Amino acid sequence: MPEAKRMRFSLRPLGHDDIPQVEEVEKSAFPTLWPLTSFERELKNHLACYLIAWEPLQEGIVLPPRPPRRHTWLQQLAGRWGLEAPRPEPLHPPKQRVVGYVGVWFMTDEAHIVSLGTQEEYRRQGIGELLLISSIELAYLHRSRLVTLEVRASNAAAQVLYVKYGFARAGVRRRYYTDNREDAVIMSTPPIDTPEYRAHFVGLVLEHQTRWGACERILQPAASS
Ligand SMILES: CC(C)(COP(=O)(O)OP(=O)(O)OC[C@H]1O[C@@H](n2cnc3c(N)ncnc32)[C@H](O)[C@@H]1OP(=O)(O)O)[C@@H](O)C(=O)NCCC(=O)NCCS
Repeated sequence: MPEAKRMRFSLRPLGHDDIPQVEEVEKSAFPTLWPLTSFERELKNHLACYLIAWEPLQEGIVLPPRPPRRHTWLQQLAGRWGLEAPRPEPLHPPKQRVVGYVGVWFMTDEAHIVSLGTQEEYRRQGIGELLLISSIELAYLHRSRLVTLEVRASNAAAQVLYVKYGFARAGVRRRYYTDNREDAVIMSTPPIDTPEYRAHFVGLVLEHQTRWGACERILQPAASS
């Protein structure tokens, strides 16, 4: 039998040591975002799940050292009050390169995608879609009824992807983005627990797998014994 096609990227939950890399991906995906996400805080948020797409780093390739953190007066003050401990650098250089991430918040019966981005030089390789698929799978695991998100009105590329997965316009938040006062379009799936949505979703997952190859996907951290 011919060997099944394999995707070059894998997916797993964000870990503490990935934070410097995922911050770089966030900056690449959302260059005007301010304040930046505190991934440390998000890792402690019981309502949030963050997944990263990654590829193995080739032998001998070492990621450039992390640039020094920008300290706003607020961060400095928080530091003085001991609210944010300095982040320890990883003991070992990373062996995996983080190329994309998605964050999902689970609220009552809704899974809300708070952020989804792919590192610029890795785009159009199926990673964004893989992250979206995995968010919807997480929503099934959490028994969410709907998946929702907000997207810039001008972000046609992302909206095409969301529409493919059944998201439709559910409202507008006027002048929501502070950098250019652009509107946010609220998008929502129909209920995902219907046979119709499940069939549509499974079909798209198989299509993605046929096109890009199967990939190792870990959606939740292993339960500690
Ligand atoms: C939107 C984004 C996450 C897509 O990531 P990606 O890894 O390139 O996505 P994929 O390769 O899986 O593409 C999936 C689909 O998205 C759409 N798409 C992605 N980039 C596109 C582009 N530049 N133009 C038009 N459609 C595009 C296409 O429908 C594509 O499917 P196709 O390859 O069959 O045409 C990525 O462009 C990104 O990080 N953008 C900046 C951050 C952002 O806008 N995030 C979403 C905020 S809600």
